[in-house]
Amino acid sequence: MIVSGGGSGLGLAAAIKFAKNDFNVVIIDIDKEKGEEAAKKIRSMGVDAIFCLCDISNKEQVQNAAEITKARFGRADVLINNAGLEVRGSILQCSEEDWERLYAINLKGIYYMTNSFTPLIIEQGKGAIINTGSILGYRTVGERAAYSSSKGAIDTLTRSMAFDLAPHNIRVNCVAPGAIDTPLLRGSINDSPDPAETERFLGSKSVFNRMGTSEEVANVMYFLASEEASFVTGATYFVDGGWSIL
Ligand SMILES: NC(=O)c1ccc[n+]([C@@H]2O[C@H](COP(=O)([O-])OP(=O)(O)OC[C@H]3O[C@@H](n4cnc5c(N)ncnc54)[C@H](O)[C@@H]3O)[C@@H](O)[C@H]2O)c1
Repeated sequence: MIVSGGGSGLGLAAAIKFAKNDFNVVIIDIDKEKGEEAAKKIRSMGVDAIFCLCDISNKEQVQNAAEITKARFGRADVLINNAGLEVRGSILQCSEEDWERLYAINLKGIYYMTNSFTPLIIEQGKGAIINTGSILGYRTVGERAAYSSSKGAIDTLTRSMAFDLAPHNIRVNCVAPGAIDTPLLRGSINDSPDPAETERFLGSKSVFNRMGTSEEVANVMYFLASEEASFVTGATYFVDGGWSIL
């Protein structure tokens, strides 16, 4: 399996979940230290793992990562398009630079990753792709114009990908996490004017009155990639503790 953003948070949890189930792992990340550490951890679990230092918004780097994957493993079965950037700012506040960088990672990154890795999956005659969206593609909080719109687009893109890749027997689904306690969300909480209140607010967005864990999302990613989900494609699974029903 190949996971972008595999060095931290949801991507790392997914890598561990798949490794526990005997998958070899390719970690794609821009953070060298975290990426190398993640690959080392996965190898210590008894499967093979490599780290590719790669910015998913850079076409050449993504193509290079796919070539390295082919040379090392000769195949790919599951691709998890998980890396994403969050920037704060309303439609009036978000700078053009932030807007373009966010869209280059959150959407074009999926385009580059899918185009580079899918030929390897097609060779296997079947496979699965999972995109990481967000509850914020469906529910609104303030000052997330670029982020929320990009995550809504990932949902739509998932359906197009599912349609286009069905002839290759590749299922494509999306997970839409709610508030999950990862380094990304911790950073966002700590940067907020009142971190304690932000944490309380995020917990209150679940009917269980808590944030979720990375493992709770990774479990759903694994299910969607597995044969247990053989008739599931083009779907978005909320892993949000009920935020979407509030
Ligand atoms: N944490 C949440 O509450 C939450 C909720 C909804 C959606 N998400 C989404 O889940 C995904 C993972 O988020 P997380 O919370 O695990 O964050 P995280 O910061 O813990 O991990 C993200 C990883 O992606 C890597 N990364 C960032 N930009 C990259 C790029 N251009 N190329 C390659 N790697 C890159 C980072 O270095 C990091 O290791 C994101 O798409 C995020 O939008 C998170």
